[in-house]
Amino acid sequence: MRKKIAAGNWKMNLGPITARAFVNDLLTQYPATCPGHPKIILAVPAIDLTTVASLLDGHKTISLAAQNLHQADKGAYTGEISAPMLVEAGCTHTLVGHSERREYFHEDNLLLHQKVRQALKNGLTPIYCFGETLAEREADQTFGVVEQQLREGLLTLEPAQFQQAILAYEPVWAIGTGKVATPAQAQEVHAYVRNLIQTRYGEEIAQETTILYGGSVKPDNAQELFACPDIDGGLVGGASLNVADFLAIANALP
Ligand code: 13P
Repeated sequence: MRKKIAAGNWKMNLGPITARAFVNDLLTQYPATCPGHPKIILAVPAIDLTTVASLLDGHKTISLAAQNLHQADKGAYTGEISAPMLVEAGCTHTLVGHSERREYFHEDNLLLHQKVRQALKNGLTPIYCFGETLAEREADQTFGVVEQQLREGLLTLEPAQFQQAILAYEPVWAIGTGKVATPAQAQEVHAYVRNLIQTRYGEEIAQETTILYGGSVKPDNAQELFACPDIDGGLVGGASLNVADFLAIANALP
């Protein structure tokens, strides 16, 4: 089901104490600043999950996401966290394949596909991230790279499973750099992706798929980006660590 969403990815920021203060502040400001109650997802560090889950306590429009999961149910994987553990902690969503996981932890499309399946098997909504580097964009490889990331990581799902997933296009060159893709650049890739989905799963599913944009989304560019026909919201890094900025972005959802 196509939804408009503002997702915050805290990355490796805020511990349980600072997370509690942040979420309390967010919950206090949310009703007044966001009268339309836009859908929000918070992707927080694993160590904060139970704290944030207890504060959200089944909130209707604010959901909790992990930033990563392991592909196995359980076992001898020191330092890892499984999907059943995330569910037990109160997660409903999880990021999969963020470019920082791809780059620093060498997660490839085939591993990410296992993670997507593992999330779905456990009732977690995967937010599958993909996007090209600056070198790939400059070499005119954007569409090819994005297509491969989707084909190998996501588009082998059966239609009913695919429909559970959320997509997030995050051009690597726009992440944390302040260099936002222009609405035209972002829309072009989003339209290309929706077209790929249409070819694979048909028009109806393509129209229902939520595709977020991520990469230097800020209060002053969110409205323009979210107004694009194939952009269904944002996956926000830096600006999600400031309550007022994040809520302003959420409030820019159409
Ligand atoms: P920034 O918003 O800080 O560029 O980060 C984007 C991102 O990586 C969200 O997952």
